[in-house]
Amino acid sequence: MSSIPAQIPAYIDANAKAFVDRLARAVAIPSISGDVNNRKDVFAMADFLEGELVKLGVSVKRAKLGKQVLDGVELELPDAILGTLGSDKAKKTILLYGHFDVQPALKSDGWDTEPFVLTEDPETGRLIGRGSSDDKGPVLGWLNAIEAYQKSNVEIPVNIKFCFEGMEESGSEGLDELIEAEAKAGGYFHGVDAVCISDNYWLNTRTPALTYGLRGISYYKITIAGPARDLHSGVFGRTVHEPMTDLIALMSKLVTPSGDILVPGVEDLVAPLTEQEKARYVSLDYSVSDVEHSAGAKVALSDDKATVLMGRMRYPSLSLHGIEGAFSAPGAKTVIPAKVSGKFSIRLVPDQTPATVDPLVIAYLKSEFAKLNTKNTLSIENLHGGKPWVADPDHWNYEAAKRATKAVYGRAPDLTREGGSIPVTLTFAESLGVNVLLLPMGRGDDGAHSTNEKLDKSNFLQGSKLLGTYLWEVAKS
Ligand code: BES
Ligand code: ZN
Repeated sequence: MSSIPAQIPAYIDANAKAFVDRLARAVAIPSISGDVNNRKDVFAMADFLEGELVKLGVSVKRAKLGKQVLDGVELELPDAILGTLGSDKAKKTILLYGHFDVQPALKSDGWDTEPFVLTEDPETGRLIGRGSSDDKGPVLGWLNAIEAYQKSNVEIPVNIKFCFEGMEESGSEGLDELIEAEAKAGGYFHGVDAVCISDNYWLNTRTPALTYGLRGISYYKITIAGPARDLHSGVFGRTVHEPMTDLIALMSKLVTPSGDILVPGVEDLVAPLTEQEKARYVSLDYSVSDVEHSAGAKVALSDDKATVLMGRMRYPSLSLHGIEGAFSAPGAKTVIPAKVSGKFSIRLVPDQTPATVDPLVIAYLKSEFAKLNTKNTLSIENLHGGKPWVADPDHWNYEAAKRATKAVYGRAPDLTREGGSIPVTLTFAESLGVNVLLLPMGRGDDGAHSTNEKLDKSNFLQGSKLLGTYLWEVAKS
């Protein structure tokens, strides 16, 4: 069978500058879905993407997703961008999903450059900016690949459906319902043969990867309140029940410093490990120094590679994220905060789901809170949730991506499960009844959600070729 015509990768190399410029225009739009003040920017990013898709001849339909309440403000959810390119009955139809929203970023968080100005480091070839790797680079990678086909006068061998959303970093609110509705007979996604998502990373900085599993998530906010107002600690210390003391006591009961989850029953829901599965982690191209490199310090929980990998890929984790309402400014204010909210989440793995884990967490929090004998009050909110997902990595969709990886990088990909979550992955798999593939563009040290997020220029260009070659190979499956 033929391989992808050489003009396509050559076009991507020849147009590198224009592609990087387009990524810079995307990064310049601070489309932070989790911040009320940036909702207009998420809409601006949807407009930008729609414009770029239309230029490629994609017929675009914007889907309204309703409203949400964020920090007490009612907001319109960003439109999802649906698109169609090609409707040849003789071809397969591949659905491409990506997201155009990003995590927050401030220079003062510790960035070396302005987070919303894409900055190319000439020495390392890094393209530094919020969203470069997660997920604007990969989303534009699809557009680069399609443009390369068109400008090379090569027919795209599959029909393409697009689903780009602007709420992924905030739990994909509203999208499950849209996907479920559009998967039905007569719906926009009906007849899709497979799904491909580029919104993940290689395990290390060397080896391309395909990802066949993601953890789910359940995100909680617990609020402890009591005094009617903030109090002077000299006047009220050892006189009243302090919400912050209660909260720290409660949060300290959730997880041990070595990562064990203390909520009874939560670890019991984890599917048992077989020797065969363990062998897969042992054989991955990965070492403890890779995790130390991407974390930027020697802080790994274990010196054993398989243990570290399983901690990320096949066991749940509980992370404490922050405390709202706590005194956090510089200086030494002697205050007793009147109301504080702790935030934490649990990454879920098979056979856990939010529905099975949430009641255990809520019951445990209530019983531990009762033991504090405090007169303050506790309230518990579940901010968002998503189930874990695992796919068959031997499916033809994966076989196509393996051939594409071989063609672009000259080597076989690592097959990975990932610790992060993309809540709609399972929704696509279940409602469309098709295989879903995660095909990453960036490297394990890209620093998604972190300071100085980057995408190596070589990954942007090779990754664009990879996405184009995948479309070529999947047509042959
Ligand atoms: N690209 C990530 C998902 C991811 C993370 C894949 C790590 C592979 C490894 C995605 O944009 C993301 O960050 N998702 C959120 C979802 C959450 C808010 C429901 C996450 O995982 O925190
Ligand atoms: Zn992300």
